[in-house]
Amino acid sequence: MAGRFITFEGGEGSGKSTQIKLLAEELIKAGRDVLTTREPGGTAEGVKIREILVTGNADFTRTTETLLFFADRCEHVMKKIMPAVKAGQIVLCDRFADSTMAYQGYGYGDNPDQQQLIKSLYKEVVGDFKPDLTILLDVPVETGLSRSRRADNIEVRFENKELAFHERLRQAYLKMANDEPERFAIVDATQPIPEIHDQIMKIIEQRGLLKAEKV
Ligand SMILES: Nc1ncnc2c1ncn2[C@@H]1O[C@H](COP(=O)(O)OP(=O)(O)O)[C@@H](O)[C@H]1O
Ligand SMILES: [Mg+2]
Repeated sequence: MAGRFITFEGGEGSGKSTQIKLLAEELIKAGRDVLTTREPGGTAEGVKIREILVTGNADFTRTTETLLFFADRCEHVMKKIMPAVKAGQIVLCDRFADSTMAYQGYGYGDNPDQQQLIKSLYKEVVGDFKPDLTILLDVPVETGLSRSRRADNIEVRFENKELAFHERLRQAYLKMANDEPERFAIVDATQPIPEIHDQIMKIIEQRGLLKAEKV
């Protein structure tokens, strides 16, 4: 079985964690070897980086923030994702480099210098490796935020940014998906959870990602 790398993207509360869990369960039931992981924080080292990125309210420069996400990604890709894909596993990843582009490249305002830096860092850190499929869960900003705001959640550094930030990153995601339709699939994440899950399964089958060899 050829390994696969499938990423899930979307704003806060779009349903990424929910859908990854359902998909992993279904694939495991079907006898597939699945690894679920996330960014930031997919490795022991990355967990430390995650804490400073998503909790508290540190006022990093944009470049510092981008570098921290790529530091996390370097650990994650080298030590966990690439070895798993090589070993034939289906890797389901909650956020990946498209999040950095959407949040750091566009969320604070359209920033071509930062977008260029993100592209360069991607080449340095990740190289030619990229997801076989990226599911973009698209949901209106207020819907997503109202789902994700829970009293016990301390990972709110990005969630707490102004509505315009979330709106910009939603539009950035949609633009990225439209620019690269062979990698992305946009799913309407306002639908009920089971329907979104069925749609994701269909996309994965249609794109030949459950076949033994790459198509
Ligand atoms: N399609 C959906 N409709 C309604 N509620 C949803 C849907 N998908 C997820 N939720 C709920 O919204 C909240 C956030 O979902 P989650 O999967 O954690 O989003 P994310 O990981 O993208 O931030 C959870 O309480 C989840 O149960
Ligand atoms: Mg989540």
